[in-house]
Amino acid sequence: MSSFSTSPGTRDILTPDAARWRKFQDVFAGVVEAAGYGLIIPPMFEDLGVFLRLGEATDVVTKEMYDFEDKGGRRVALRPEQTASVCRAFVQHRPTTPWKVWYAGPNFRYEKPQQGRYRQFDQVGLEVLGVEDPYLDAEVIALAAQFYDRLGLKEVQLSVNSLGDAGDRQRFTDVLRAYFEAHLSELSEDSQVTLTKNPLRVLDSKRREDQTIIANAPRIRDYLSPTAGEHFAAVLAALDAQNIKYVIDDRLVRGLDYYRRTTFEFVSTALQAAHTAIGGGGRYDGLVEELGGPATAGIGFALGLDRTLLACDAENVFPAPNTDVFAFVVDTTGGHEAALVCNQLRMARVGADRAFDNRSMKAQMKAADRSGAQVAIIIGSNELEAGQAVIRPMNSGEQYSVNRADLLTAIQNEVSKFQSAN
Ligand code: HAM
Repeated sequence: MSSFSTSPGTRDILTPDAARWRKFQDVFAGVVEAAGYGLIIPPMFEDLGVFLRLGEATDVVTKEMYDFEDKGGRRVALRPEQTASVCRAFVQHRPTTPWKVWYAGPNFRYEKPQQGRYRQFDQVGLEVLGVEDPYLDAEVIALAAQFYDRLGLKEVQLSVNSLGDAGDRQRFTDVLRAYFEAHLSELSEDSQVTLTKNPLRVLDSKRREDQTIIANAPRIRDYLSPTAGEHFAAVLAALDAQNIKYVIDDRLVRGLDYYRRTTFEFVSTALQAAHTAIGGGGRYDGLVEELGGPATAGIGFALGLDRTLLACDAENVFPAPNTDVFAFVVDTTGGHEAALVCNQLRMARVGADRAFDNRSMKAQMKAADRSGAQVAIIIGSNELEAGQAVIRPMNSGEQYSVNRADLLTAIQNEVSKFQSAN
């Protein structure tokens, strides 16, 4: 018989981690829905053409796309991110602007798997279409910062940059190409190849031999048009006014080609791994047009769930939530009583679980322990005969007997006691 395990770069998320994932998405929903963002659930695969707009020279498109021909002969791809899908949805449905949406879910990139980098990874994110106002750039960044704060993360550093308008970006790219071409022989082989496709991305090189040349390269800030420069200054002023700490990093070009004007990235300084970027985003004025829609401003971000949880581990914050099972019924009389009690408690919305297969008292108490329940309800033959049940607090406190008729009330009292103590 053959046996299987998960493909490279994919993982099973088991309990209690899975409960932590759900809580992560819930906390994000809480932050952004309170700011007027509505949930969008785009499909996980789309026409490949939607994603080609991420940039013909990006690794995401040229090397990492999970694309294939379906049985109907359509060229489709698993989504590597969700911004392009949101813009495609905007063009398809033409909602009124500003359109403020958030999303959560898996994305797929054929990358070299390692810690913090997977082939299937989850993001939470948001996008706003139809607003040029620099106050929105600051709002979007503030929401990400607020979410990290809600998780309890302290060691998060925000970098911001402006890539200018399309014209600025082109002018800067030409200047950069000329500069790097003048230093061609000193550049790493990888960067020489990148240069032929997209000189901006050379700035992203982490190779040691490229660092001095990159450090001396022209700076985008010197090529911003007055309007792009003013926009960036207004974003920074709005961040200052909200007391959001940032560093300006004019080497921050990001891995996707659609960015214009404001770009930003959040890095966890608590992570030792190679991959410390726990989120990023920016403006992509122009993407909607490229997907066949009207000229529409756009901005958003996505935060890597997998990587952010690694940062939470490193900072020892945001633990997995407690189980919802409050009471565990230990029935050594055959299991019928456990069925009745569980049913009664669950109908009254008290989480309850039980053991099966008429296991021994010891085995059932072990299961009660493992379940994370706050109390065990014990029914043996003595209790059954006397019409009683024993309530045993799992963590502290003495056990006591109650009449079966009073069991629900007694457990509800225990729930209240637990809630006021926590
Ligand atoms: P991105 O920088 O490619 O941007 O991804 C955002 C975050 O997703 C990263 O900072 C990282 O935490 C996480 N991430 C990316 N790739 C992986 C991977 N292979 N394994 C684990 N985590 C990963 C975007 O995706 C843009 N759509 C963000 C955006 C939204 N820009 C504007 N709107």
